[in-house]
Amino acid sequence: MKVNTPLLSENVGQQIINKDNVNILDLDREEIINLFKSYGFLLFRGFENSVDTFTQFTNSLSTDFLDYTGGVFNRRVINGNATILSVNDFKDEIKLHGEMYYQQDIPLMLWFFCAHPASQDGETILCDGRQLFNELSSPLKELFSNKKLKYFGHLNKEGWQNKYKTDDLRVVEQNCRNNNLLWQINEDESIDLQFICPAIHPSRCGKYPTFINSLLAAKHINPNTPCFDDDSEIPDDIVSELNEVAERITTEISWQTGDILMVDNTRIMHGRRAFSDNQRDIYLRLCSPAFPF
Ligand SMILES: [Fe+2]
Repeated sequence: MKVNTPLLSENVGQQIINKDNVNILDLDREEIINLFKSYGFLLFRGFENSVDTFTQFTNSLSTDFLDYTGGVFNRRVINGNATILSVNDFKDEIKLHGEMYYQQDIPLMLWFFCAHPASQDGETILCDGRQLFNELSSPLKELFSNKKLKYFGHLNKEGWQNKYKTDDLRVVEQNCRNNNLLWQINEDESIDLQFICPAIHPSRCGKYPTFINSLLAAKHINPNTPCFDDDSEIPDDIVSELNEVAERITTEISWQTGDILMVDNTRIMHGRRAFSDNQRDIYLRLCSPAFPF
């Protein structure tokens, strides 16, 4: 490729930097796939990207694009395409998480596009779940290997209508069933949801335990969820230890206009630093790889 490929951190993440005015659509597909499989996330920088090239480029490497039904944040649809969404609509920090790990169906890969960076802060953060598992103390490895996470949530009528993009509870019921979510309708038409899943997952090749889940992000927003599957609380000191270990091996992406980021959502947790600039505009696509993975 007519590009530079410096590493983004010691073991994971690689940058594909345009040095010869190359069109991103002309990059060698196999080379991208091999780098992605090895490094877990790739940052494409210096290309003249628009939302159109972002759409074409991601279409060429991905399939099964999701419209975020069942997701917890409010997202804007971009250019009338329900599979190109803004990131969430507030400015606070979001702790590291695997995308949609609070339900069964997760997108296997993610794409981000920087339409406009924040004037300062608002970096996207990335952390390798394999490396994070390795860095955990033995008691934490044992704890999270033995106990699963239980996520729970309460949604009023408007809440579930937005989340599931329907006003038909039967559609919600089907979605919950497909996602192994326990659910209950209350008299006021609100619903309660519950989902149990491991904190640690085997890698796609089966060789590496990977710490990837929504624990840190969920706890930061609502300290009551998740708990362990035996209903015991996840103590604050354990959450702090996880955050400290993760922070040591976290990579920051300081966005530039036109950047594209490709992320393996089975291995790499992501999040973002807080920001104050109203102009920050990052788009997201949730999908599966259109190649053997
Ligand atoms: Fe996310």
